[in-house]
Amino acid sequence: MDRYLVFGHPVRHSKSPFIHTLFARQTQQELEYGLAEPAVDEFAQALRTFFDQGGKGCNVTVPFKEQAFTLVDRLSPRAKRAGAVNTIKLTDDGVLLGDNTDGAGLVADLKSHGVTLGDSRILLLGAGGAARGALAPLLAELPSELVIANRTHTKAQQLAAEFCDLGPVTAQTYEQLAGPFDLVINSTSASLQGELPPLAPALIHTDIAIYDMMYGASDTAFISWAKQHGARQTMDGLGMLVEQAAEAFTVWRGIRPGTKQVLRELKRNLGVI
Ligand code: ATR
Repeated sequence: MDRYLVFGHPVRHSKSPFIHTLFARQTQQELEYGLAEPAVDEFAQALRTFFDQGGKGCNVTVPFKEQAFTLVDRLSPRAKRAGAVNTIKLTDDGVLLGDNTDGAGLVADLKSHGVTLGDSRILLLGAGGAARGALAPLLAELPSELVIANRTHTKAQQLAAEFCDLGPVTAQTYEQLAGPFDLVINSTSASLQGELPPLAPALIHTDIAIYDMMYGASDTAFISWAKQHGARQTMDGLGMLVEQAAEAFTVWRGIRPGTKQVLRELKRNLGVI
């Protein structure tokens, strides 16, 4: 049977085996999908061993995405832009192809929530790997403006300079931000510590869409905060998780699974509904 897995550390709580097993059942594909948690300095060896032993493809998550970028034989254009790899496929001619489906997953999830990206003003919080992966797919939707704000302003400036050939992207400090924005995407890891990016509450209004790439069984700190300040449309990163997985599954198997039912099952599994 064709074997796939996700590499991460820690990875025990990954939902990817659950999601891909449902995709495989739905599309009647014969495959198995597992977990691998190599020591941080043993990822390269573990990856090699997996493919030497017949593995067909893998996902890569924190903290290995940047390392995976350097270990594959070939990169897709979107992985090259993202500077990170979250999906690897062994091609028929034995080449390890590195791809990145995170940004496509974000955009697909935003669209499935009915968020309009074309001609919109987008505020992206954070300038780490998650922000970098999101930029090209967001700019491809032709927003009127995309502003990056980050605690360490120089990182936002670097990112804006790197992507400004793709669209109207600029960097501003949190203090400089002036609304109204149509959509705020939180790509920071602040919610992991229950912290908030230092965003002025005045930027939140009833018609704004709020997206936190993090998720949990209950609202993230950022989503709770935005709701308190009047945001009516809030979304967490669970949908993005399922959509990036669907995109990876499509890369591997050449068949696109449906995501709605799988997202529902995942929410049930997490105790969200
Ligand atoms: P990832 O790959 O998930 O993006 P990362 O590269 O470590 O992770 O980036 C984390 C991002 O969250 C960074 O933009 C970080 O800001 P700095 O560049 O200033 O470190 C941001 N971040 C983390 N905790 C934060 C907090 N409490 N408030 C605001 N931003 C925070």
